[in-house]
Amino acid sequence: TGMFTYDPGFLSTAACQSSITYIDGDKGELLYRGYPIEQVATQCDFLETCYLILNGELPNEQQKEDFVSLVTNHTMVNEQMQFFLRGFRRDAHPMAVMTGLVGALSAFYHDSIDINNARHREISAIRLIAKMPTLVAMAYKYSIGQLYMYPKNSLSYTGNFMHMMFATPCEEYVPNDVLVRAMDRIFILHADHEQNASTSTVRLCGSSGTNPFAAIAAGVACLWGPAHGGANEACLNMLEEIQAMGGVAKIGEFVTKVKDKNSGVKLMGFGHRVYKNYDPRATLMQETCREVLGYLGVKNDPLLELAMALEKVALEDEYFVSRKLYPNVDFYSGIVQRAIGIPVSLFTAIFALARTVGWIAQLNEMIADPEYKIGRPRQLFTGAIRREVKPMAMR
Ligand code: CMC
Repeated sequence: TGMFTYDPGFLSTAACQSSITYIDGDKGELLYRGYPIEQVATQCDFLETCYLILNGELPNEQQKEDFVSLVTNHTMVNEQMQFFLRGFRRDAHPMAVMTGLVGALSAFYHDSIDINNARHREISAIRLIAKMPTLVAMAYKYSIGQLYMYPKNSLSYTGNFMHMMFATPCEEYVPNDVLVRAMDRIFILHADHEQNASTSTVRLCGSSGTNPFAAIAAGVACLWGPAHGGANEACLNMLEEIQAMGGVAKIGEFVTKVKDKNSGVKLMGFGHRVYKNYDPRATLMQETCREVLGYLGVKNDPLLELAMALEKVALEDEYFVSRKLYPNVDFYSGIVQRAIGIPVSLFTAIFALARTVGWIAQLNEMIADPEYKIGRPRQLFTGAIRREVKPMAMR
């Protein structure tokens, strides 16, 4: 058994080579294909970011136009998906629904499910990016008992998502620039993040040669957990809980509970496996948060004030300082989404929508790598080596 490196949680194992996303955790730096996240988030829209992540280069005008039109052509889902959706309870968690819906796509696209075929990978990438907003909005509409809205291809990718979320057959949604831009930025900031748990899940799942839709469904399932994508939902619930306890005045009490290892309580939206400095996405998210609240005329959002006070206390506390725990992207994203009108239970599904492009790019990169093999970790066996089965009467 001495042949293997024992590395639970993969703290020091590089499982692949990748040229997509670079993180310098000590500096708090994030680059998509070499471009700093601060520049991508302020100078590109989400579909340009998708093009960059998938193809390695930013599109020129013509390439962008072609890409947008390609994605736009695939926004609808098969009508049968509605019937599948209707099998769920109305109060099903959207991530439970998404795991099912994304996996179900495999059953509709028999012409593009061979993961070893580059053309199939290309078309399923477009289908997934195009259909995720439709599926998330369908899951939402279903949960509130409304008819689901068909995609409107005259709108932008993100404008269309907001339309499918907030329009009804009796009332049109007029896309609002500030809110659409905020949502678009949320998408950009979540688009890829190298070998996190869900991305590694997608790679491992895809390494068996399963189809792209199945591999992405595995990523959705992994993302659901509160230590990963579920942190945005958990963070907002945490803020609301502190607010209910008495708000800012109760921060000290809450932080004391977090520091007590036996409490099992963590400061959600804080800490990261790779960032040992401020998560650059959190800075950009906080900026968007201010912009959205300013636009909506929310002078003092009690949750934002609470979050900022909590952040300040944590950043000055020896427990967090010594462990290099800083706010991550999820610390402020929930406040922005809530202000836009997104229900808390949908936050992680929106993260999944945005991360889909990263998952696909990483999956395609793996398949195209001549060194790729089925992922098959080894173990250090700690059980009984060999023993004999006794007859029932003697056990
Ligand atoms: N609150 C309190 N203590 C923490 C926290 C936290 N949020 N995060 C880490 N610690 C402590 C941890 O208990 C450990 O203490 P000690 O050394 O005394 O045992 C130390 O800090 C190191 O943490 P770790 O658990 O060994 O670090 P990890 O790399 O295994 O975990 C993490 C990273 C993100 C899972 C963890 O920080 C966490 O659970 N954070 C809260 C959930 C969260 O916000 N997740 C979103 C991550 S960013 C978005 C995404 O990519 O999904």
